[in-house]
Amino acid sequence: MAKETIKKPRGTNDILPGGEVEKWQYVENTIRKIAANYAYREIRTPIFEHTELFERGVGETTDIVGKEMYTFKDRSGRSITLRPEGTAPVMRAYLENSLFSLSKPIKLYYIGQMFRYERAQSGRYRQFNQFGVEAIGVHSADMDAEVIAIAVEVLEKLGLKNLEIHINSLGCPKCRVEFKEKLKSYIKPNLDDYCPDCKERFDKNPLRIMDCKNDKCKELSSDAPAILEHLCSECEDFFDQLKQNLDVLNINYIVDKNLVRGLDYYTHTAFEIMVCGNFKSAIGGGGRYNGLAEMYGGEPAPSVGFALGLERVLLALESQNVEIPVPEGIDVFVATADLGANVEAVKLLAYVRQKGYKADKDYANRSLKAQMKYANKLKARYVVIIGEDELKNNKLIVKNMQTGEQLEIDKNKLLEVIGGKLNER
Ligand code: HAM
Repeated sequence: MAKETIKKPRGTNDILPGGEVEKWQYVENTIRKIAANYAYREIRTPIFEHTELFERGVGETTDIVGKEMYTFKDRSGRSITLRPEGTAPVMRAYLENSLFSLSKPIKLYYIGQMFRYERAQSGRYRQFNQFGVEAIGVHSADMDAEVIAIAVEVLEKLGLKNLEIHINSLGCPKCRVEFKEKLKSYIKPNLDDYCPDCKERFDKNPLRIMDCKNDKCKELSSDAPAILEHLCSECEDFFDQLKQNLDVLNINYIVDKNLVRGLDYYTHTAFEIMVCGNFKSAIGGGGRYNGLAEMYGGEPAPSVGFALGLERVLLALESQNVEIPVPEGIDVFVATADLGANVEAVKLLAYVRQKGYKADKDYANRSLKAQMKYANKLKARYVVIIGEDELKNNKLIVKNMQTGEQLEIDKNKLLEVIGGKLNER
């Protein structure tokens, strides 16, 4: 009986060569260049962490921690979680490796897989990739504006149009104490009509109620007071400075007092990036998180960062018909006219590869005719044919696959004839 084939888990993607992985590479290269221009350095943290890292940092009453984490016991019985986001791990690494002893800010970026058990659909996956930056160690609205500028520059460089930057302030612990009471007085009369999660949030973390996905809860909270209208004077000044800085950088923004983020660690600035007319959900989001280092037992380290969802970025590019340059083909295909020429073909192939050309040969005993067809499929610019006669006379036949022109040349003239390499064109 034939065995059943095994399929990939729901909400995951294979990124294949032949047009797709090349787009990812282009996006990643663009990101790396821009991150370097802004003087951010790459950090790589583990794919899995102790569960407590996210419980403490992202917050137990958030959907991410409450419903979406891939959590399991390892063989020693420790609770391990596949990272659902990158900020908590970066802060852990910053503290654990004493990066605070370096000059501040510590400017870091990462590109990597994240895992959330969400309802899979287009643009929402269970394994997805984020590009994130974290600037740790300073409380300055310049820093917040820089971080937003990086996200915008990456998206614009890639060719995305119609970006909408939504900004809000979530205040500091000082303004929140008073605001929480205001919010609770607003919610309390209708608390019985809220979902069970929100009822639990009411005492533990009432601000979270504003991020509930339940339609009924959303409706009940539609006129709720907004923290933006209850900021302390320091938070108000900080938000004004951020707006001024964005104006200086010519970054348009929309102040959105209803913007709440799905993670608890935010203070002051919160922002999300949308593409008009594209998804309802954001392609990126971030903000300031001044209290996270202390939540992990460290010294205060005011910080700001964001992450872009790369699958969503690629979908948005596709929806706007943005062409991503995809390098195709190889420079040289080495074909053999006789079996006896194979050793020479292996040598020649090694030689052209060493000179930096993309090159390949046949590995499946194809006839010369079939090799030519195969070279065509590989989109080879030149085919070099070696036969017995050529072997004897130190000659090669070179066919230009674009023009169809075929020449017999001296072996040592090969590089002159084939000229520049694919990557140089
Ligand atoms: P986040 O808003 O949870 O923030 O995620 C950032 C971006 O990741 C989202 O805007 C979205 O594009 C993408 N994303 C999230 N979940 C999924 C999913 N299931 N499938 C596909 N894409 C998804 C954070 O993760 C924060 N750590 C960002 C941050 C960095 N804040 C400060 N520093």
